Amino acid sequence: MTRRYVAFEGVDGAGKTSVAAGVAQRLAARGFDVLTVREPGGTATGEAIRDILLGLGGVVADWAEALLFAAARSQLASEVVGPALAAGRAVVSDRSVYSSLAYQGGARGLGIEAVRRVNEAGLGGVWPELVILLRLDPAAGLAREDGADRISTAGIPLQSRVAEAYDLLAAAEPERLVVVDASAGFEAVVAASEAEVLRRW
Ligand code: TYD
Repeated sequence: MTRRYVAFEGVDGAGKTSVAAGVAQRLAARGFDVLTVREPGGTATGEAIRDILLGLGGVVADWAEALLFAAARSQLASEVVGPALAAGRAVVSDRSVYSSLAYQGGARGLGIEAVRRVNEAGLGGVWPELVILLRLDPAAGLAREDGADRISTAGIPLQSRVAEAYDLLAAAEPERLVVVDASAGFEAVVAASEAEVLRRW
């Protein structure tokens, strides 16, 4: 059975949330049984962790941050994504483990491999088959952001390192990570992303 698990990734403000929703809607219209999720969050435990991670004014050390993202993801994998995939459903995710590899592993400097290992431990093989990287200039992304959170307020220096890390990941795993130019208009980005999904499904 084909496992259908696609995640949307990109710097803050790249448009993942709306593009993921647009693609999910089109796939559902084609008859796929689609579940949409977002990270961090998607479970009661995960939403509580999200408040700790993104609340303004909180103090979260770098490894605590990485482990909290991994904890929220582990809960989502065991409670929601794993069972959905096992039931043959398609899962469209707004962010995934690749956010942790780029933000915590790359941008925060914890090491992509170290962050990959802690996440692997918590995910039991629930890993996106396809990752659509919406590539956008970090400054353009931050300009598009409406609400600031603890991570986006770190600004352009952090987002530039995130963008670099995503590019490294895309080069290292070209069969899994597909780059889509997020500066094209919304409809064009949704269409290009949907085409990549349909090529595999
Ligand atoms: P998100 O809600 O997707 O915000 P945005 O729409 O602004 O991109 O993600 C919230 C923030 O959390 C965002 O700055 C990226 C960050 N993040 C990580 O640093 N690591 C992770 O593993 C995840 C899932 C998100």
